[in-house]
Amino acid sequence: MDKFVIKGGRRLTGEVTISGAKNAAVAILPAVILSDEPCIIENVPSISDVNISLRILKEMGAEVTVLGKDSYRIDPTHINNFCVPYETARKMRASYYFLGALLGKFNKARVSMPGGCPLGDRPIDQHLKAFSAIGADYTLSQGMIDLRADKLTGSQIFFDVVSVGATMNAMLAAVKAEGLTIIENAAKEPHIVDLANFLNSMGGNIMGAGTDVIKIRGVERLHGTTYAVIPDQIEAGTFMIAAAATKGDVLIKNVIPKHLESITKKLEKIGVNIEQFDDSIRVWVDGPLVKTSVKTTPHPGFPTDMQPQIATLLTLAEGTSIVTEGVWEQRFRYVDELRRMGADISVDGKVAVIEGTGKLMGAPVKACDLRAGAALIIAGLAASGITEIEDIYHVERGYDCMEGKLRELGADIEKVSFPEEASDSEESSKKTAV
Ligand code: EPZ
Repeated sequence: MDKFVIKGGRRLTGEVTISGAKNAAVAILPAVILSDEPCIIENVPSISDVNISLRILKEMGAEVTVLGKDSYRIDPTHINNFCVPYETARKMRASYYFLGALLGKFNKARVSMPGGCPLGDRPIDQHLKAFSAIGADYTLSQGMIDLRADKLTGSQIFFDVVSVGATMNAMLAAVKAEGLTIIENAAKEPHIVDLANFLNSMGGNIMGAGTDVIKIRGVERLHGTTYAVIPDQIEAGTFMIAAAATKGDVLIKNVIPKHLESITKKLEKIGVNIEQFDDSIRVWVDGPLVKTSVKTTPHPGFPTDMQPQIATLLTLAEGTSIVTEGVWEQRFRYVDELRRMGADISVDGKVAVIEGTGKLMGAPVKACDLRAGAALIIAGLAASGITEIEDIYHVERGYDCMEGKLRELGADIEKVSFPEEASDSEESSKKTAV
């Protein structure tokens, strides 16, 4: 087992370069299946969710060649296996994108129900609604989802809830469906736009991605392409908050400032100084942090994937702050761990009330999911004393060498291995991604 050991109290200063976006990459890699020719994908983050996606593609018969640290050539023309087994699928939440890609290419797919989730209920009814709308039949048995279609035909899809995954899957399944598909109440996150741009670079005809109405005119075939994944909005936001929490001064490079607007505005309200450039952003603090209220909503609102991180920052702001989780049922499980570090937070359903005291104390804590782990790292960097964070496999699913990037900025953080106790082995078998 590995853990992070952090000696807190050091200001982060210098420059950091953001990697490709996890939530774009885990949709774009399965989308390569739709191509009739090899594709080159660049700016792919080195994270375990990507490794699992590449492994699934190889197990299906795709040829994957490493071209460089973050670039891959993927040849999907010999895929002969349309099933993603439980053993692999449960490790990564986004395995369900193989449903849309396989259905869109082969009119069939068999993928395990995605893994358990630490964020409350995560149904896939909207994904199934989209597949049915264009002509697919589905059956659920023994934890597997089976999709079959004689033919895929464009249709109208109105999502009952704004869903990133269902919007992505609808585009994957409909890009080659005959005729016009209209998706309404679509998610608008930057990674939605990135997948649409990728599919269009292969010859797809998708319009309106980034708005709540997406129109897709089905095409006969999709050709190969070379495509670079967008920078990770949430990794960038995480480093912005780490800089603020340590009262540092950091230039964050390889970002798209427009994708960070809601984070930037909220941080400025808290008293953080921010200067934007074409593809970088400078974050520094030279005064007290100010209490505020935050509510997470789908894009362009404040991202739910930044909620644990901003809540941690607000424990360092004097006064009472309110954080409301507007997307997930249970996204405050990290609060118990912050309490161990001296945070004064009370949670009632989807609302957390934070009595900022301006300081945190180092303690042994555990990451319960990807962004909770990132928040605990931020807390450890800002705390006085030593913080040890266990279950960091959650963090390594979605952040590309976070500890190395933090060390470059002056953090005292080390990854340490320690023997896995018997009780932990059961825990480790339940690893699921978010
Ligand atoms: C994606 O999850 C992200 N994961 C999540 O990021 C992110 O929190 C979430 O979008 C919201 O932005 C990936 O992209 C791999 P949703 P997803 O479908 O697609 C309900 C991270 O930290 N819903 O947008 O699973 C659902 O219960 C992870 O990187 C249905 O009711 O999220 C939730 O309340 C955590 N039926 C809401 O919609 C459905 O069929 C939003 O979920 C689908 C979703």
